Amino acid sequence: MPVPLRTASHPGGAARGMRRVTVLGSTGSVGDSTLDLIGRNRGTYRLVALTAFRNVEKLIAQALDLRPELAVIGDPDLHDRLAEGLRGSGVRSDAGASALIAAAAEAADLVVAGIVGAAGLAPTMEAVRNGRTVALANKECLVCAGPLMTALAAERGATLLPVDSEHNAIFQVFDHERPENVDRIVLTASGGPFRRCSLAEMRDVTVEQAVNHPVWSMGDKISIDSATMMNKGLELIEAHCLFPVAQDRIEVLIHPQSIVHSMVAYRDGSVLAQLGTPDMRTPIAFALAWPERMTAPVAPLDLARIGSLTFEPADEARFPALRLAREAMAAGGTAPTILNAANEVAVAAFLARRIGFLDIAAIVEETLQRAETIAAGSLEEVWAVDRRARTLATQAMLAREGGQSGAAAGQPAPSRPSAVASMS
Ligand SMILES: NC(=O)c1ccc[n+]([C@@H]2O[C@H](COP(=O)([O-])OP(=O)(O)OC[C@H]3O[C@@H](n4cnc5c(N)ncnc54)[C@H](OP(=O)(O)O)[C@@H]3O)[C@@H](O)[C@H]2O)c1
Repeated sequence: MPVPLRTASHPGGAARGMRRVTVLGSTGSVGDSTLDLIGRNRGTYRLVALTAFRNVEKLIAQALDLRPELAVIGDPDLHDRLAEGLRGSGVRSDAGASALIAAAAEAADLVVAGIVGAAGLAPTMEAVRNGRTVALANKECLVCAGPLMTALAAERGATLLPVDSEHNAIFQVFDHERPENVDRIVLTASGGPFRRCSLAEMRDVTVEQAVNHPVWSMGDKISIDSATMMNKGLELIEAHCLFPVAQDRIEVLIHPQSIVHSMVAYRDGSVLAQLGTPDMRTPIAFALAWPERMTAPVAPLDLARIGSLTFEPADEARFPALRLAREAMAAGGTAPTILNAANEVAVAAFLARRIGFLDIAAIVEETLQRAETIAAGSLEEVWAVDRRARTLATQAMLAREGGQSGAAAGQPAPSRPSAVASMS
């Protein structure tokens, strides 16, 4: 599927002076990295809007430091606190779901889509509808409604710049002018914290073990997705939406060091890869400056010190989420929407210690079997499928709840509330 990943009319970075940037999900991990870069380059970037969901104190601190024009909190009950915290600063405040969407529509050169989960779909779609350049971290948007989003981007002249490190890597080495020369895409995966664990060992893993990613420091939801390898499954679907490559030409390769961020293999046997120290500030810097480059405070890649890079095949028997994602991608229609919704419900339940780790993929599989797949022609249809899938996944979760492992049960939930829990 052709996607307008590049447009000739892009305003360019330094050439146009100050670039206006909106950061959706500024209080998260991607948001932090983005604001770190912007804070170091205050003469180049002007913040238009920052948004958060419930972390109002962090949003206030960010806004007082970086002075966006607007700060929006998703939870309307927190608006009074936001307004009070920003009094006298000159930063406007707003709250609620429609305010998040309005923030995405504000005039900006770049909108960073850093909200986690399907909650980011409506604001990101709004940025696309307004023809913005979107730095897309929120992969769940594309998994939920990829064909709708890419069609809208083409219609409105919006540009999707992938920020997920793998897709950013592919974007950098993909021959966008001659895609017919591409033989296949190889998505690398760290393998997560349980790369070497048996299924029996994974049965009783705790939330703390699962969020403790060996390489990347990320939000809770994507960390759990990395542990189940659903993250790589979502990325398969994301890659298929973003790049004109057949499904069976997108491979997953385990690469524990996370130095090679992904590869594109060409029909003459050449394989082009993008490498770098694993630090999200590199792909975010790429998007902030595109089509220029900016200096990023990232440790230089020192291959001599690293010594060796290793690779191994992915094991879909131990990581069934990968198989489920591939099956959903092949089924098409709203199967990926169902996969994503069920996964969000299951991950939230795992983070809340209501189910065991292996229940996550089991709930997704059961939901995929029970939910009807349609060819969604509108966002409303996507939302209806998403809601139905969440209901079915919640039923599947409740049926498993009593069977949770002793290791996971009876412990307090993590201090940071799960973003996706709020959606179910
Ligand atoms: N972290 C990474 O290194 C990384 C790498 C590649 C891709 N990604 C993708 O980027 C996205 C963000 O990941 P993350 O790790 O940055 O997540 P995160 O740390 O959990 O942050 C999520 C952000 O979204 C906001 N949010 C949560 N629920 C919301 C809702 N219902 N409505 C509006 N805003 C909401 C949060 O606000 P509060 O803080 O107020 O809850 C926070 O600002 C995900 O799709 C992830 O897959 C992340």
